[in-house]
Amino acid sequence: MKTHKLALIPGDGIGVDVTDATMQVLDAAANLFGFALACETFPWSCEYYLKHGAMMPEDGIETLRAFDAIYLGAVGWPASVPDAVSLHGLLLPIRKAFNLYANIRPHRLLPGVEGPLKAQGFDILCIRENTEGEYSGAGGRVHQGQDNEVAVETSVFTRRGVERILRFAFEQARARRRHLTSVTKSNAQKYSMVFWDEITRELAREYPDVTVAHMHIDAMAAKMVMAPDELDVVVASNLFGDILTDLGAAIQGGLGFAASANIGPDRTGPSMFEPVHGSAPDIAGKDIASPIAAIWSGAMMLEHLGESDAAAAVLKAIETTTAKGIGIRPGSHSTGEITATIVAELGD
Ligand code: NAD
Ligand code: IPM
Ligand code: MN
Repeated sequence: MKTHKLALIPGDGIGVDVTDATMQVLDAAANLFGFALACETFPWSCEYYLKHGAMMPEDGIETLRAFDAIYLGAVGWPASVPDAVSLHGLLLPIRKAFNLYANIRPHRLLPGVEGPLKAQGFDILCIRENTEGEYSGAGGRVHQGQDNEVAVETSVFTRRGVERILRFAFEQARARRRHLTSVTKSNAQKYSMVFWDEITRELAREYPDVTVAHMHIDAMAAKMVMAPDELDVVVASNLFGDILTDLGAAIQGGLGFAASANIGPDRTGPSMFEPVHGSAPDIAGKDIASPIAAIWSGAMMLEHLGESDAAAAVLKAIETTTAKGIGIRPGSHSTGEITATIVAELGD
Protein backbone atom coordinates (compact mmCIF):
# COMPACT_ATOMS: atom_id res chain seq x y z
CA MET A 1 0.00 0.00 0.00
CA LYS A 2 1.26 3.48 -0.83
CA THR A 3 2.27 5.30 2.36
CA HIS A 4 2.79 9.06 2.63
CA LYS A 5 4.97 10.32 5.48
CA LEU A 6 3.50 13.42 7.09
CA ALA A 7 5.01 15.76 9.66
CA LEU A 8 2.24 17.33 11.75
CA ILE A 9 2.87 20.61 13.56
CA PRO A 10 -0.42 21.50 15.29
CA GLY A 11 1.15 24.59 16.90
CA ASP A 12 -0.90 26.88 19.12
CA GLY A 13 -4.50 27.72 19.98
CA ILE A 14 -7.06 26.50 17.44
CA GLY A 15 -4.17 25.12 15.35
CA VAL A 16 -4.35 22.03 17.56
CA ASP A 17 -8.13 21.54 17.09
CA VAL A 18 -8.13 22.06 13.33
CA THR A 19 -5.13 19.75 12.82
CA ASP A 20 -6.91 17.04 14.76
CA ALA A 21 -10.06 17.60 12.68
CA THR A 22 -8.10 17.49 9.43
CA MET A 23 -6.40 14.22 10.33
CA GLN A 24 -9.74 12.59 11.15
CA VAL A 25 -10.92 13.45 7.64
CA LEU A 26 -7.66 12.56 5.88
CA ASP A 27 -7.41 9.21 7.69
CA ALA A 28 -10.96 8.41 6.62
CA ALA A 29 -10.06 9.36 3.03
CA ALA A 30 -6.93 7.18 3.16
CA ASN A 31 -9.02 4.19 4.29
CA LEU A 32 -11.53 4.72 1.52
CA PHE A 33 -9.00 5.25 -1.24
CA GLY A 34 -6.47 2.60 -0.23
CA PHE A 35 -3.40 4.50 0.87
CA ALA A 36 -1.82 5.14 4.27
CA LEU A 37 -0.70 8.26 6.10
CA ALA A 38 2.26 7.71 8.44
CA CYS A 39 2.14 10.74 10.70
CA GLU A 40 4.64 12.02 13.20
CA THR A 41 3.50 14.90 15.42
CA PHE A 42 5.94 17.60 16.52
CA PRO A 43 4.92 19.68 19.56
CA TRP A 44 6.71 22.80 18.27
CA SER A 45 4.73 25.77 19.51
CA CYS A 46 4.88 28.72 21.90
CA GLU A 47 4.52 26.29 24.80
CA TYR A 48 7.55 24.41 23.47
CA TYR A 49 9.41 27.73 23.28
CA LEU A 50 8.70 28.50 26.94
CA LYS A 51 10.21 25.14 27.92
CA HIS A 52 13.14 24.96 25.49
CA GLY A 53 13.93 28.56 24.54
CA ALA A 54 13.37 27.85 20.82
CA MET A 55 10.32 27.19 18.65
CA MET A 56 11.88 24.01 17.27
CA PRO A 57 15.10 22.08 17.89
CA GLU A 58 18.26 23.16 16.05
CA ASP A 59 17.92 20.24 13.65
CA GLY A 60 14.18 20.87 13.14
CA ILE A 61 14.50 21.69 9.45
CA GLU A 62 16.67 18.62 8.82
CA THR A 63 14.11 16.48 10.66
CA LEU A 64 11.29 17.81 8.46
CA ARG A 65 13.26 17.19 5.26
CA ALA A 66 12.63 13.44 5.56
CA PHE A 67 8.84 13.83 5.16
CA ASP A 68 6.68 13.87 2.02
CA ALA A 69 4.68 16.85 3.31
CA ILE A 70 4.23 19.05 6.36
CA TYR A 71 0.84 19.92 7.82
CA LEU A 72 0.75 22.94 10.13
CA GLY A 73 -2.20 24.14 12.21
CA ALA A 74 -1.26 27.66 13.31
CA VAL A 75 1.55 29.27 15.23
CA GLY A 76 1.45 32.18 17.67
CA TRP A 77 0.46 32.96 21.23
CA PRO A 78 1.30 36.64 21.62
CA ALA A 79 0.33 36.72 25.30
CA SER A 80 3.37 34.58 26.14
CA VAL A 81 5.77 34.82 23.16
CA PRO A 82 6.14 37.85 20.86
CA ASP A 83 4.80 37.05 17.37
CA ALA A 84 8.02 38.16 15.71
CA VAL A 85 9.84 35.50 17.77
CA SER A 86 7.37 32.63 17.29
CA LEU A 87 6.73 33.11 13.56
CA HIS A 88 10.40 33.73 12.74
CA GLY A 89 11.25 30.64 14.77
CA LEU A 90 9.00 28.16 12.98
CA LEU A 91 6.60 29.03 10.14
CA LEU A 92 8.70 31.52 8.18
CA PRO A 93 11.97 29.51 8.31
CA ILE A 94 10.16 26.41 6.98
CA ARG A 95 8.84 28.38 3.99
CA LYS A 96 12.33 29.67 3.24
CA ALA A 97 14.35 26.53 4.00
CA PHE A 98 12.39 24.35 1.58
CA ASN A 99 12.04 27.09 -1.03
CA LEU A 100 8.24 26.95 -0.82
CA TYR A 101 7.98 29.96 -3.05
CA ALA A 102 4.38 29.56 -4.21
CA ASN A 103 1.66 30.16 -1.65
CA ILE A 104 -1.64 29.15 -3.24
CA ARG A 105 -4.89 30.41 -1.71
CA PRO A 106 -8.31 29.75 -3.28
CA HIS A 107 -11.20 32.12 -2.55
CA ARG A 108 -14.70 31.10 -3.50
CA LEU A 109 -18.00 30.61 -1.72
CA LEU A 110 -18.81 27.08 -0.62
CA PRO A 111 -22.41 25.96 -1.27
CA GLY A 112 -24.78 27.33 1.38
CA VAL A 113 -22.31 29.93 2.65
CA GLU A 114 -23.46 33.52 2.41
CA GLY A 115 -20.54 35.87 2.10
CA PRO A 116 -20.86 39.56 2.97
CA LEU A 117 -21.02 40.57 -0.73
CA LYS A 118 -23.80 40.61 -3.31
CA ALA A 119 -21.43 38.91 -5.73
CA GLN A 120 -21.71 35.13 -5.30
CA GLY A 121 -20.01 33.67 -8.36
CA PHE A 122 -16.37 34.63 -7.79
CA ASP A 123 -13.61 32.04 -8.00
CA ILE A 124 -10.20 33.55 -7.29
CA LEU A 125 -6.88 31.76 -7.00
CA CYS A 126 -4.38 33.95 -5.22
CA ILE A 127 -0.71 33.14 -5.81
CA ARG A 128 1.46 34.80 -3.21
CA GLU A 129 5.26 34.98 -3.43
CA ASN A 130 6.37 33.23 -0.26
CA THR A 131 10.13 33.52 0.28
CA GLU A 132 11.36 37.07 -0.35
CA GLY A 133 9.96 40.55 -1.07
CA GLU A 134 8.82 42.40 2.04
CA TYR A 135 9.51 39.27 4.15
CA SER A 136 13.18 39.03 3.17
CA GLY A 137 14.25 39.63 6.77
CA ALA A 138 16.93 42.10 5.67
CA GLY A 139 17.20 44.99 8.06
CA GLY A 140 18.14 46.08 11.51
CA ARG A 141 17.79 48.58 14.32
CA VAL A 142 20.40 50.98 15.60
CA HIS A 143 20.55 53.28 18.62
CA GLN A 144 17.83 51.24 20.30
CA GLY A 145 15.89 53.11 22.94
CA GLN A 146 17.49 56.46 22.08
CA ASP A 147 15.74 59.36 20.41
CA ASN A 148 17.83 58.88 17.26
CA GLU A 149 16.73 55.26 16.97
CA VAL A 150 16.40 53.91 13.42
CA ALA A 151 14.66 50.81 12.09
CA VAL A 152 15.24 49.64 8.52
CA GLU A 153 13.50 46.70 6.87
CA THR A 154 14.37 46.22 3.24
CA SER A 155 12.27 44.41 0.66
CA VAL A 156 14.33 42.17 -1.58
CA PHE A 157 13.08 41.28 -5.04
CA THR A 158 15.33 39.07 -7.17
CA ARG A 159 14.87 38.35 -10.88
CA ARG A 160 14.93 34.63 -10.09
CA GLY A 161 12.33 35.02 -7.33
CA VAL A 162 9.98 37.25 -9.29
CA GLU A 163 10.28 35.29 -12.52
CA ARG A 164 9.53 31.95 -10.92
CA ILE A 165 6.42 33.10 -9.06
CA LEU A 166 5.07 34.89 -12.12
CA ARG A 167 5.74 31.87 -14.32
CA PHE A 168 3.94 29.69 -11.77
CA ALA A 169 0.98 32.09 -11.82
CA PHE A 170 0.86 32.18 -15.62
CA GLU A 171 0.76 28.37 -15.66
CA GLN A 172 -2.10 28.36 -13.13
CA ALA A 173 -3.98 30.90 -15.25
CA ARG A 174 -3.42 28.77 -18.35
CA ALA A 175 -4.98 25.80 -16.55
CA ARG A 176 -8.02 27.88 -15.48
CA ARG A 177 -9.81 30.78 -17.19
CA ARG A 178 -6.64 32.27 -18.72
CA HIS A 179 -6.75 35.59 -16.94
CA LEU A 180 -3.98 36.83 -14.69
CA THR A 181 -4.04 39.95 -12.52
CA SER A 182 -0.62 41.04 -11.28
CA VAL A 183 -0.83 43.27 -8.22
CA THR A 184 1.88 45.81 -7.43
CA LYS A 185 2.27 49.41 -6.31
CA SER A 186 4.51 50.64 -9.09
CA ASN A 187 3.13 54.16 -8.99
CA ALA A 188 4.79 54.66 -5.60
CA GLN A 189 7.51 52.00 -5.32
CA LYS A 190 9.54 52.80 -8.35
CA TYR A 191 12.30 50.18 -8.11
CA SER A 192 10.94 46.85 -6.88
CA MET A 193 7.41 47.15 -8.19
CA VAL A 194 8.42 48.57 -11.56
CA PHE A 195 10.86 45.64 -11.79
CA TRP A 196 7.98 43.20 -11.07
CA ASP A 197 5.78 44.87 -13.72
CA GLU A 198 8.58 44.68 -16.31
CA ILE A 199 9.10 40.96 -15.71
CA THR A 200 5.34 40.41 -15.95
CA ARG A 201 5.36 42.06 -19.39
CA GLU A 202 8.38 40.00 -20.50
CA LEU A 203 6.75 36.73 -19.47
CA ALA A 204 3.38 37.70 -20.93
CA ARG A 205 4.95 37.35 -24.38
CA GLU A 206 5.45 33.63 -23.64
CA TYR A 207 1.77 33.28 -22.66
CA PRO A 208 -0.19 34.94 -25.49
CA ASP A 209 -3.23 32.82 -24.53
CA VAL A 210 -3.39 34.46 -21.07
CA THR A 211 -4.79 37.99 -20.72
CA VAL A 212 -2.92 40.07 -18.17
CA ALA A 213 -4.18 42.94 -16.05
CA HIS A 214 -1.88 45.10 -13.95
CA MET A 215 -3.45 46.56 -10.83
CA HIS A 216 -2.22 48.58 -7.90
CA ILE A 217 -2.77 46.99 -4.50
CA ASP A 218 -5.10 49.76 -3.30
CA ALA A 219 -7.38 49.49 -6.33
CA MET A 220 -7.23 45.71 -6.03
CA ALA A 221 -8.49 45.84 -2.45
CA ALA A 222 -11.53 47.74 -3.71
CA LYS A 223 -12.02 45.44 -6.69
CA MET A 224 -12.07 42.33 -4.51
CA VAL A 225 -15.10 43.83 -2.78
CA MET A 226 -16.80 45.53 -5.74
CA ALA A 227 -16.22 43.08 -8.60
CA PRO A 228 -14.49 39.89 -7.40
CA ASP A 229 -16.19 37.87 -10.15
CA GLU A 230 -13.99 39.59 -12.74
CA LEU A 231 -10.86 38.00 -11.22
CA ASP A 232 -9.31 34.62 -11.98
CA VAL A 233 -5.67 34.12 -10.95
CA VAL A 234 -4.16 36.92 -8.87
CA VAL A 235 -0.41 37.13 -8.24
CA ALA A 236 1.22 39.38 -5.66
CA SER A 237 4.31 39.86 -3.54
CA ASN A 238 4.65 38.32 -0.09
CA LEU A 239 3.09 41.12 2.01
CA PHE A 240 0.51 42.20 -0.56
CA GLY A 241 -0.53 38.56 -0.98
CA ASP A 242 -0.79 38.17 2.79
CA ILE A 243 -3.18 41.09 3.10
CA LEU A 244 -5.24 40.27 0.01
CA THR A 245 -5.80 36.70 1.19
CA ASP A 246 -7.34 37.77 4.50
CA LEU A 247 -9.61 39.97 2.37
CA GLY A 248 -10.23 36.94 0.16
CA ALA A 249 -11.10 34.96 3.29
CA ALA A 250 -13.54 37.68 4.37
CA ILE A 251 -15.44 37.67 1.08
CA GLN A 252 -15.73 33.89 1.19
CA GLY A 253 -17.46 34.10 4.57
CA GLY A 254 -14.57 34.29 7.02
CA LEU A 255 -11.15 32.97 7.94
CA GLY A 256 -12.67 29.61 8.77
CA PHE A 257 -13.01 28.94 5.02
CA ALA A 258 -9.66 30.05 3.58
CA ALA A 259 -7.23 27.26 2.68
CA SER A 260 -3.59 27.51 1.72
CA ALA A 261 -0.71 25.50 0.31
CA ASN A 262 2.97 26.47 0.48
CA ILE A 263 4.40 24.72 -2.54
CA GLY A 264 7.96 24.12 -3.67
CA PRO A 265 7.23 23.36 -7.32
CA ASP A 266 10.70 21.85 -7.87
CA ARG A 267 9.89 19.28 -5.15
CA THR A 268 13.37 19.30 -3.62
CA GLY A 269 11.84 19.19 -0.12
CA PRO A 270 8.47 18.77 1.57
CA SER A 271 5.73 21.31 0.81
CA MET A 272 3.66 22.66 3.71
CA PHE A 273 -0.11 22.92 4.05
CA GLU A 274 -1.94 25.16 6.54
CA PRO A 275 -5.09 27.26 6.71
CA VAL A 276 -4.75 31.02 6.09
CA HIS A 277 -5.92 31.77 9.62
CA GLY A 278 -3.86 31.94 12.78
CA SER A 279 -4.20 30.47 16.25
CA ALA A 280 -7.25 32.66 17.07
CA PRO A 281 -6.61 33.13 20.82
CA ASP A 282 -10.03 34.81 21.11
CA ILE A 283 -11.86 31.54 20.39
CA ALA A 284 -9.24 28.96 21.43
CA GLY A 285 -10.56 26.21 23.69
CA LYS A 286 -14.20 27.02 22.90
CA ASP A 287 -14.74 24.26 20.29
CA ILE A 288 -16.19 26.75 17.81
CA ALA A 289 -13.27 27.11 15.37
CA SER A 290 -14.28 26.12 11.87
CA PRO A 291 -12.11 23.22 10.68
CA ILE A 292 -13.14 23.80 7.05
CA ALA A 293 -10.16 25.94 6.00
CA ALA A 294 -7.83 23.40 7.57
CA ILE A 295 -9.54 20.37 6.00
CA TRP A 296 -9.59 22.08 2.59
CA SER A 297 -5.82 22.65 3.03
CA GLY A 298 -5.58 18.94 3.79
CA ALA A 299 -7.32 18.21 0.47
CA MET A 300 -4.72 20.39 -1.25
CA MET A 301 -2.04 18.27 0.43
CA LEU A 302 -3.62 15.03 -0.86
CA GLU A 303 -3.69 16.51 -4.36
CA HIS A 304 0.01 17.42 -4.05
CA LEU A 305 0.80 13.87 -2.90
CA GLY A 306 -0.82 12.50 -6.04
CA GLU A 307 -4.04 11.34 -4.34
CA SER A 308 -6.29 13.34 -6.65
CA ASP A 309 -9.38 11.17 -6.23
CA ALA A 310 -9.19 11.38 -2.44
CA ALA A 311 -8.56 15.14 -2.63
CA ALA A 312 -11.63 15.63 -4.83
CA ALA A 313 -13.71 13.47 -2.48
CA VAL A 314 -12.67 15.51 0.58
CA LEU A 315 -13.55 18.75 -1.18
CA LYS A 316 -16.89 17.27 -2.26
CA ALA A 317 -17.59 16.18 1.33
CA ILE A 318 -16.87 19.73 2.54
CA GLU A 319 -19.29 21.05 -0.10
CA THR A 320 -22.11 18.64 0.72
CA THR A 321 -21.63 19.47 4.40
CA THR A 322 -22.00 23.23 3.89
CA ALA A 323 -24.83 22.67 1.38
CA LYS A 324 -26.73 21.08 4.31
CA GLY A 325 -26.18 24.23 6.34
CA ILE A 326 -23.50 22.73 8.59
CA GLY A 327 -20.62 25.08 9.41
CA ILE A 328 -21.82 27.91 7.19
CA ARG A 329 -21.49 30.69 9.78
CA PRO A 330 -18.76 31.22 12.37
CA GLY A 331 -19.96 29.52 15.55
CA SER A 332 -23.05 27.92 13.97
CA HIS A 333 -21.76 24.42 14.78
CA SER A 334 -18.97 23.03 16.91
CA THR A 335 -15.61 21.99 15.46
CA GLY A 336 -16.49 18.39 16.26
CA GLU A 337 -19.94 18.51 14.62
CA ILE A 338 -18.57 19.94 11.38
CA THR A 339 -15.73 17.41 11.30
CA ALA A 340 -18.02 14.45 11.99
CA THR A 341 -20.39 15.56 9.21
CA ILE A 342 -17.53 15.84 6.70
CA VAL A 343 -16.29 12.36 7.66
CA ALA A 344 -19.84 10.97 7.27
CA GLU A 345 -20.32 12.70 3.89
CA LEU A 346 -17.03 11.25 2.71
CA GLY A 347 -18.27 7.74 3.41
CA ASP A 348 -21.61 8.27 1.59
P1 NAD B 1 -6.34 34.87 13.36
O1 NAD B 1 -6.46 34.40 11.96
O2 NAD B 1 -5.85 33.89 14.34
O3 NAD B 1 -7.77 35.41 13.85
C1 NAD B 1 -8.44 36.52 13.25
C2 NAD B 1 -9.94 36.43 13.55
O4 NAD B 1 -10.52 35.36 12.79
C3 NAD B 1 -10.25 36.12 15.01
O5 NAD B 1 -11.39 36.83 15.41
C4 NAD B 1 -10.53 34.63 15.00
O6 NAD B 1 -11.39 34.20 16.03
C5 NAD B 1 -11.15 34.41 13.63
N1 NAD B 1 -10.84 33.06 13.13
C6 NAD B 1 -9.64 32.64 12.70
N2 NAD B 1 -9.71 31.34 12.34
C7 NAD B 1 -10.97 30.95 12.55
C8 NAD B 1 -11.64 29.71 12.36
N3 NAD B 1 -11.02 28.61 11.89
N4 NAD B 1 -12.95 29.64 12.68
C9 NAD B 1 -13.60 30.72 13.16
N5 NAD B 1 -13.01 31.93 13.34
C10 NAD B 1 -11.70 32.04 13.03
O7 NAD B 1 -5.41 36.16 13.32
P2 NAD B 1 -4.78 37.03 14.51
O8 NAD B 1 -5.76 37.16 15.62
O9 NAD B 1 -4.21 38.21 13.88
O10 NAD B 1 -3.55 36.15 15.01
C11 NAD B 1 -3.55 35.29 16.14
C12 NAD B 1 -2.20 34.60 16.23
O11 NAD B 1 -2.00 33.75 15.12
C13 NAD B 1 -1.01 35.57 16.21
O12 NAD B 1 -0.02 35.03 17.01
C14 NAD B 1 -0.60 35.58 14.75
O13 NAD B 1 0.72 35.97 14.55
C15 NAD B 1 -0.80 34.13 14.43
N6 NAD B 1 -1.01 33.80 13.02
C16 NAD B 1 -0.47 32.62 12.60
C17 NAD B 1 -0.71 32.16 11.32
C18 NAD B 1 -0.13 30.85 10.90
O14 NAD B 1 0.44 30.15 11.70
N7 NAD B 1 -0.27 30.45 9.68
C19 NAD B 1 -1.52 32.92 10.46
C20 NAD B 1 -2.05 34.13 10.92
C21 NAD B 1 -1.80 34.55 12.21
C1 IPM C 1 -0.18 33.93 6.82
C2 IPM C 1 0.23 34.55 8.13
C3 IPM C 1 1.74 34.69 8.23
C4 IPM C 1 2.23 35.52 7.06
C5 IPM C 1 2.22 35.30 9.56
C6 IPM C 1 1.71 34.53 10.72
C7 IPM C 1 3.71 35.47 9.62
O1 IPM C 1 -0.40 35.78 8.30
O2 IPM C 1 0.27 32.81 6.53
O3 IPM C 1 -0.97 34.53 6.09
O4 IPM C 1 2.20 36.75 7.11
O5 IPM C 1 2.68 34.92 6.09
MN1 MN D 1 -1.86 36.22 6.79
